Amino acid sequence: MSVIRDYDCLVKHSEQVLPGVIRIVFECMEMVSNALPGQFVQIEPSTGTFPVTRRPITINRLTDDGFELLFDVVGRGTELMGEMRTGETVRILGPLGRGWMVHPDSTWLLVGGGLGAAGFQFLIDTVGSAKVLIGASSSRRVIPLESLSCTVATEDGSTGETGLVTALISRDLLEEADSIAVCGPVAMMEAVWNTIPSMYRDKVQVSTESRMGCGWGVCDGCSIPVSSGGYKKCCKDGPVFPGSDIDWKRWKEAGL
Ligand SMILES: Cc1cc2nc3c(=O)[nH]c(=O)nc-3n(C[C@H](O)[C@H](O)[C@H](O)COP(=O)(O)OP(=O)(O)OC[C@H]3O[C@@H](n4cnc5c(N)ncnc54)[C@H](O)[C@@H]3O)c2cc1C
Ligand code: FES
Repeated sequence: MSVIRDYDCLVKHSEQVLPGVIRIVFECMEMVSNALPGQFVQIEPSTGTFPVTRRPITINRLTDDGFELLFDVVGRGTELMGEMRTGETVRILGPLGRGWMVHPDSTWLLVGGGLGAAGFQFLIDTVGSAKVLIGASSSRRVIPLESLSCTVATEDGSTGETGLVTALISRDLLEEADSIAVCGPVAMMEAVWNTIPSMYRDKVQVSTESRMGCGWGVCDGCSIPVSSGGYKKCCKDGPVFPGSDIDWKRWKEAGL
């Protein structure tokens, strides 16, 4: 069980790794001993009055003395985060949520869509090796991953195979894997789920995203519709869920 706390984290390094995609490395020893793959942090983009709520970002990987985040600049919060400079101190709450369920000696297949693959590095570093399938609109959206086995598909054919990540999923890969991790936009994850025959679906875990308030279970702002009929909290019950827990139709319709 990880200890959730608010930390003052020092920015050690910040860089743009792809157009509009920023990597920030923070110093925070406590996070190194506490965080698990698939968990996220709530970062305070600014000490000013806007934005009021923090922004959730998955821990991309741990470093010797801290952790790094990889994020897309999509609005004011992430824009402010992209302006953070070396030497600054930032308030960060974490590690939060339930990450990937890692079973000993499991063979992993990871399927990511665009920035959804942010966080896979921590999982790869933890489990040792994994087969990785990445889908993106173009080479400008393929995030760097250190993996011995990574196959890419881009919609415009600028790198890897031309087409969608679902075309890379083969019966052999599904058969070999004990655990299948999926992360990306809802439509991509639903397409992957629908591509996987039902006999393999109990191996699938999905990392969900939702708009968040608190990030630790008190505001009810992050509900995800589940197959049992109700809702679960992305921040506390997830963000990683068994794929069969998700009510894909209701989730997509909700446009969360
Ligand atoms: C558990 C979790 C982990 C995440 N990890 C990452 C990560 O590793 N890297 C990364 O780039 N992003 C990640 N995100 C998404 C990130 O939190 C949002 O992009 C960010 O909060 C946007 O803040 P903003 O102020 O820049 O944009 P806003 O002004 O808040 O929003 C800009 C646009 O992005 C959309 N948007 C914002 N948040 C979400 C969301 N959660 N889901 C779908 N659309 C959204 C809004 O609807 C709007 O259209 C994660 C989200 C969650 C819940
Ligand atoms: S973000 Fe507040 S309950 Fe999940």
